[in-house]
Formats: sequence, structure tokens, C-alpha cells
Amino acid sequence: MVRYSEELIDDIKNSNDIVDIISQYVILKRSGRNFFGLCPFHKEKTPSFSVSPDKQIFHCFGCGVGGNVIHFISKIENLDFKESLEVLAERVGITLPTLDNEVDSKKQLLKEKIYEINKETALYYHETLYKDISKPAQEYVKKRKLDNKTLKDYTIGYAPANSNLYKFLKNKGFTNEEILVSDLVNKMGNNFVDRFKNRLIFPIQDVRNRYIAFGGRVLDNSLPKYINSPENIVYSKARNLYGLNVAKNSKLENLIIVEGYMDVVSLHQRGIENVVASCGTALTEAQGRLLRKYAEKIIISYDSDAAGQAATLRGLEILTNLGCDIRILQMEGAKDPDEYVIKYGNGRFNNLIDKAISLIEFKTKVLKKDLNLSNVNDKIKFLNEIAKLVSTIDNRMEQEVYIDKISREYDISKEAIYAEINKINYSKNQGKKILENNYKKNVIKKKETLPETLLKRENMIIGILLNGKTEVYEQIKNILSPKDLKKEQNKKIMQKLYEEFEKGNSNINNILEIFNDDEEIISILTGIMADDYEIKDDKKAIEDIINNYKKEKLINRKKEIIDSLNNGNIDKQETVNLEKELHDIIIRLAQIK
Ligand code: GTP
Ligand code: MN
Repeated sequence: MVRYSEELIDDIKNSNDIVDIISQYVILKRSGRNFFGLCPFHKEKTPSFSVSPDKQIFHCFGCGVGGNVIHFISKIENLDFKESLEVLAERVGITLPTLDNEVDSKKQLLKEKIYEINKETALYYHETLYKDISKPAQEYVKKRKLDNKTLKDYTIGYAPANSNLYKFLKNKGFTNEEILVSDLVNKMGNNFVDRFKNRLIFPIQDVRNRYIAFGGRVLDNSLPKYINSPENIVYSKARNLYGLNVAKNSKLENLIIVEGYMDVVSLHQRGIENVVASCGTALTEAQGRLLRKYAEKIIISYDSDAAGQAATLRGLEILTNLGCDIRILQMEGAKDPDEYVIKYGNGRFNNLIDKAISLIEFKTKVLKKDLNLSNVNDKIKFLNEIAKLVSTIDNRMEQEVYIDKISREYDISKEAIYAEINKINYSKNQGKKILENNYKKNVIKKKETLPETLLKRENMIIGILLNGKTEVYEQIKNILSPKDLKKEQNKKIMQKLYEEFEKGNSNINNILEIFNDDEEIISILTGIMADDYEIKDDKKAIEDIINNYKKEKLINRKKEIIDSLNNGNIDKQETVNLEKELHDIIIRLAQIK
């Protein structure tokens, strides 16, 4: 692993305030010294995700996830530690030194080259579209009603049948290796052959406007309809969304997700600018997070065919799990948004946006499709499933609205729906009781091994050590050693802290990075940091803790001695010694109290 210097890492951390950074992903509200919000790493309805501006850490009391600003970026953007540092450095204009790692910097240089190649290519194809040789494409574009501004906004282009991109790129000075890595040209025997021929070209850009890949559409009905760039060192299909670079500039707080390139550009042209496409593949979690980063509300507007509806259901699942606010746009009389908006205009499409239905309504509709509600069995089945859906709504008012709606729409009495929901709630509660009982049993079991008070004490010691005061360390180092702690991770933490103090490094700022590879320990540490132990007097607290440990040691020894004495298997001299020791212990115990 390549590493940047500690100073540099500190510098980057100090320049990126954790509250600023996290606010870009989570709505934070101040409460006392800290900020709270809904955890972006697990689903929750009440905020247990805390951010401490003082300590520059985050910690979720719900799922335990925690860390500093670098860990946060790493988790939320799916980047490794080094990449996260790079993002944060770039954000505040810190230039990172090229690391003494040849492979790494070579790859970086190659990447830069590929971005260049892609940009040159996008512009080249775009310009070609306006040339005389591109008559077929010009006619096609006209037929699809794309205007000039749209072609420019999305750098749409044309790769002619006799296109020679290879030659163009060679003339620009790129090497064969670079050209091949871009995947825009393939090598066949001794020949270099362009990937795209006689296709309308849709360049794909990332949110930073870099050209990362291409989609090419045939101009007729031949197959395959589209050819897309394969994944390579600059293109990860699962992490990007077509059109997001444009859509993110729209002032609206919602984003519409559609299936195809044509849907994006066609809606955009008609003033609906907040549109992105998943490009015909199933929505991924990384894409979901990307959407959520830019939008409060997400509207799914997939094709109205069966494949589109199935894709909607899959997308819904991913987005719901990420805690997104989702609506589903329902479209009739056209197979996709492009066709719809051409046929009926943007006014009517905007109406569809306003009328987009919720997850529950959509699922209800899907359910209804396969059932015949005049058949009693089907009706019962329908009622059961509906009740299941509605019982997942926490908000009573919202629940009532749905019940009302469903009752009217499907001619089912409200009482029947309520009865069914009550049944579900009853069995849920029973299940919950069993869970609670199990939990209690487990907690009791746990208590036998590691009592709560002991854990709290260990946390407190670590918490005090984390304050980095050398005199505290001097006070306890000879009395308490890491192995005196009971919890395995706490031993490791204390060991590291002692080592740092020994090195004269009381700046334990970097403790979280020391444990970069151990999420459990990071979680314990941020938990301790976030849990403000109201310690007014370090010295006094330490004394109490030390006394407790001393007392425990003495009590244990006392037990041992009494056992030995009762055993009787010892000679006289030893008995005398032990009795003397016991006497001492009793006096010392009395002193401690
Ligand atoms: P039009 O049919 O011209 O309106 O294009 P569209 O963008 O609406 O395409 P469609 O709805 O058929 O497909 C949605 C998306 O799936 C496209 O934009 C492509 O990204 C992708 N796609 C469609 N057909 C193919 C194909 O044959 N191969 C690949 N790799 N992707 C395809
Ligand atoms: Mn289409």
C-alpha cells in the first residue's frame, strides 16, 4: 500500500470540515455540541447518526459505523482510503505529491490519456455529424426530432460507415497502446478497426464532465440496436448514470430516472432537464447513492412494457433500501418517455410527474394485474397482500389515507382491511415478544461474561487516554496494563495508545487511521468519542478507576488465599505467610474505601 505522510493526511483532514462534508450527503441538525441526522449507512426513521465538530468524527449509535472524514468518504463513495484522500485533497486544492510508486503513477497517467482520447473522440464524432458525408445521420436525427441545442448539450455525434477514428487519434499523437486501452479501436490481426461504424454516438460523461464511455445507435432497425463501450480503467458502468452531468445543474430537487439515452435527451429538449438514464441495465446500489446525493425525490419513469416494469420493481427495492423518497411515473399511450413527450407534449408529461404514484400504490397495481377480484380466492389473496403492504407504513395518518384510497378503488371495505392489518400486527407483536425475550436472555448471558459496568469503565479509561494527556498516562501506566482490560479490542486499543505515548506522541489524532483495516475497533473508538463521558475531573476519574482495579485484584487474591487456607494442603510456614498476606489485603481494602 502506498502511503502519504502523516502531516499531509492531517493537513487534508484539517482542511475538510467533517460537518461540511457530511452535510452534502445527510441533513444534519444541531443538538448541543453535536449534529444528528439519519444514518446513510443503514435504514432508520429516527436519527442516531452523530457528527462531532469538535472531534471531527462521525458515529452511528444504531449500526455502529464510525470514523473520521476520510472514512466517511471512503464508505459513502465506495473508494479506498487513498482514493478518498485524493478526493478530499482535490476539494480543497491540496496537490498530492506523486507517490514513489511507478505502477500507480503510470496507471494514473494512462487514465488521463484515456480521458483525453475520449474527449477528442466525442468532439470529433460531434463535428462529423455536421459534415456532408453524414447525410444519413442528419436525416435520422431530424426524424427523431432532435434539435441543434440538444445535439450540442449532449455532444451527440456520428461515426460514419467509413470512419477512421484510429487515424485521427494517431495524428493527435496518441500511441497504439493508449488507443487500444480506450476501447474505441480494436486490433484485428494487423489492422486497427474502429468500434463504432455507421452509428449515432452518445458520449457518456461523469459528474465531473469527463468523457468516460460511448453508446452507439444504429440508424435503422438492424441489430444490435446499441453498442456500448466496455468497462475499462475510466469507465465503471455500475457507478455512472447517463445525463447526470447535465441533470445535476437543474434547479429541481427531484430527478427522473429513465431507461434510454433517447429518453434523456428528448425530455431535456422539451424543458424537462432533471433526467438521467440507467442505460438499460438494472439499477445498482452505487447508482442509487449517486441519485440520492443529487435529489431529494426520485421518480422512476421506465418503459411501459413488461421488461420496464420488472426493472422498476428491482430499482424500487434498491432505492427503498437506501431510504430514498420514490415515486413511480405511470404512462399510457406510449412505450417510453421519448415517444410520450413527442406525442403529447411536455405539459402532459409534467402532469404525469405530478401524478406519479407511491411505492405502495405501485405494488398494489402490480398485484392487481395477476388477480381477478371477482374471484373470492383472488380477492382474499389481494386483501392479505395489501394489508401486508399497508402495515409497513409507520405513520398512522398516511396509513389511513392509503386504506381509504384502496377501499374506494378496489371496492373492499375499510373494516376488512383494518381487520387484516390488526391480524398482522398481532403476529408481529408476538414475534417481537419472542425476540425481546431472546434478547433479554442474551443480555443476561453476556452480563455474566462482561458486565456492563466493567465495559463502561474500560471505555472511560480509553476515553480519558484519548484526550492525550501525558500526565494521565504516567499516572496509570504502572498500575494498569492492556492485558488488565477484559474486552479483546480494548486491549489492542490500549496497547496502541501506550505505544504512542511511549513514542512521546500524545497527538492521538491518528488513532483512527492506525486501525484503518479494523472496522470493529474504529466503531468502538468513535463510539467512545461520540459518547460524551461527562468527565469533569480527569485525575479524580482515573483515581476511581485505578482504585476499582486495585480493589478487584485484591479481592481476587483474597479469594485465592481463603481457598488455599480452606484446602488445608499447605504446610505451617505457608499458612502463616498466607494469613499475613490476607491480613494485609484486608487492611489495604479498607484503606481504598
Ligand atoms: P430508441 O429505441 O432509439 O428510442 O432508444 P432508447 O434509448 O429508448 O432505447 P431502449 O429503450 O430500447 O433501451 C434503453 C437503453 O438500453 C438504451 O438507451 C441503451 O443504453 C440500452 N440498450 C438498448 N438496446 C441495447 C442493445 O442492443 N445492446 C446494448 N448493449 N444496450 C442496449
Ligand atoms: Mn426509445
